[in-house]
Amino acid sequence: MNWEIIDTHAKQWVKEAGEKIRLSFKSTLNIETKSNPNDLVTNIDKEIEQFFIQKIKEVYPEHRIMGEEGFGDKLHNLDGIVWLIDPIDGTMNFIHQQRNFAISIGIYENGVGKIGLIYDVVHDELYHAIRGKGAYINEKPIPKLKETTIKESILALNATWVVENKRIDHNLMIPLVKDARGTRSYGTAAIELVFVATGRVDAYFSMRLAPWDVAAGAVIIEELGGVVTNLRGEKLNFLSTDSLLAGKPGLHQAILNDYLKGGQW
Ligand code: IPD
Ligand code: CA
Ligand code: CA
Repeated sequence: MNWEIIDTHAKQWVKEAGEKIRLSFKSTLNIETKSNPNDLVTNIDKEIEQFFIQKIKEVYPEHRIMGEEGFGDKLHNLDGIVWLIDPIDGTMNFIHQQRNFAISIGIYENGVGKIGLIYDVVHDELYHAIRGKGAYINEKPIPKLKETTIKESILALNATWVVENKRIDHNLMIPLVKDARGTRSYGTAAIELVFVATGRVDAYFSMRLAPWDVAAGAVIIEELGGVVTNLRGEKLNFLSTDSLLAGKPGLHQAILNDYLKGGQW
């Protein structure tokens, strides 16, 4: 398999899609809700997903596609080459802020991440990695991640998990938030994952993310020596929603062992 050629195509399509999104800022969005009033989707999310599907099917008819907005294939396994696509990660930010969102594409072969692309459209920054070939912001290599301690860490997390919620005993979260140097919340898993990759934050976690939220970021972080698992410390399967902990080596283990052990999720 020539991953460089697939990567070249994917990058070109991501850039084209980004241009379409930037142009959309001038138009009025058509906003709908999905599973709940805060779960938003726009005509642009749908158009961008369809754009990728059309491009991929034209050049790689044998590849399969899992897209958030449902225009891709219905997948029950990850056999062969699968593109996991979030056309806009951070739709709420896209609507409210016109920033802090990204296109996220992970390309997997038999369940193993091969290519990760996260495009911060507004900053024109493409974070990308091919497994075994390093990770980059545009053409600039990203250095490997170094170990750190909780006391010196910035953690990215949503405040939802630190107040009473139905997925985690929030009392477990309180010491973690108190011991960390600081916390941040950006409202886009893809960008939070590239922030882990670039060391702008030291770890990111969430109680519930979908495969397309994490697929690209996992490839980039792992390429840099970071660790990505669910909160039980298991590998992600990229077929179902799951919890997530992505972080620097050492810190990832410390969060699991010293803070979150014994929780139910
Ligand atoms: C959402 C964002 C958000 C995360 C949600 C995701 P969307 O993706 O990544 O940060 O907390 O769980 O669903 O819906 O904007 O693509
Ligand atoms: Ca998403
Ligand atoms: Ca999305």
